[in-house]
Amino acid sequence: MPKQLHNRYQKTFAVAPMMGWTSRHCRYFHRQISRHALLYTEMVTTGAILYGEHRRFLQYDDSEHPIALQIGGGNPNELEKAVTIADAYGYDEINLNVGCPSDRVQQGNIGAVLMAEPKRVAQCYRAMRNAANPRTKISVKNRLSIDNLPEHSVFDFVETVANAGCRTFIIHARKAFLQGLDAKANRDVPPLNYELVYQVKQRFPELEIIINGGIKTLDEAKRHYHHVDGVMVGREAYQNPWLLAGVDELLGYDSRPLSRQQIIRNMVPYIEREIDKGNHLKQIARHWMGLFHGQRGTRAFKQHLNDHMNNRNDTAVIEEALAKLADVSSN
Ligand SMILES: Cc1cc2nc3c(=O)[nH]c(=O)nc-3n(C[C@H](O)[C@H](O)[C@H](O)COP(=O)(O)O)c2cc1C
Repeated sequence: MPKQLHNRYQKTFAVAPMMGWTSRHCRYFHRQISRHALLYTEMVTTGAILYGEHRRFLQYDDSEHPIALQIGGGNPNELEKAVTIADAYGYDEINLNVGCPSDRVQQGNIGAVLMAEPKRVAQCYRAMRNAANPRTKISVKNRLSIDNLPEHSVFDFVETVANAGCRTFIIHARKAFLQGLDAKANRDVPPLNYELVYQVKQRFPELEIIINGGIKTLDEAKRHYHHVDGVMVGREAYQNPWLLAGVDELLGYDSRPLSRQQIIRNMVPYIEREIDKGNHLKQIARHWMGLFHGQRGTRAFKQHLNDHMNNRNDTAVIEEALAKLADVSSN
């Protein structure tokens, strides 16, 4: 399996793990726009891998490389077993979620609650590292802190987990409040503190530090590259996926971006294969809603998809929707 190649500037641009959004169909779509962005899966819990039908959660298309699997878990034994299974799928990176504040995740003692237990996270890291092939990167995605812990406790957290061998941290540059704020509010309310993430990189220059939170443009990404090793972009990449069209060039690769229409048309053979396997156009096309963001005709395009993709599992709907776009643009 191909592992992630280094780019000219040795920087990373990652699309964040997002439950309900970064499904394999979404990632396949994003990969048509950028060849080199690192794509994260949705979080998959150790329970789903160990006790579910793991192929359903772990399969992906070979073209999705470079790809990182995010795992939710807090028990080193379970993580070791889950990573043993998951690593056989050939992911470039396997990441531990130490940032999600949702109630459901907290009840499972996974996600951001683990920020209060850096030693446990270090054990989790060791278990994951032991289980994986040495070529698979193992990383941690964390917050600055949670609840009453001061933000600068991120230094102790990173140091403890790095002492277990972890070399890559994706840091969502805000704390999380586990009581009183839901997961959605926790992505906006506590203020971002990019400076503190830069200081983590200064204090631990040998570590790979990827910054996350509130990044909306490639110019912002470029500015962060002066301070850290990479950026991770979540909502903006999903809601405005055309942002990804500039990523390969940003990373120093030759790039010949296709048109938005061409990207959609290139997906037709994939969609036909998926329909043959019993899947549905709407599971794939629902991720395209932001592609023509800001362009004339985007409403007519989305309207046509929304009106037809639920009851017609047929790729003809795609050309019809693209034609709506052309109609409006030529008026
Ligand atoms: C719909 C949605 C689902 C998310 N699911 C996850 C998840 O499964 N694991 C995780 O670590 N973060 C998750 N996040 C958080 C993002 O990965 C990211 O850290 C956060 O949105 C901040 O980045 P942004 O400001 O660029 O969106 C999710 C965010 C959204 C919007």
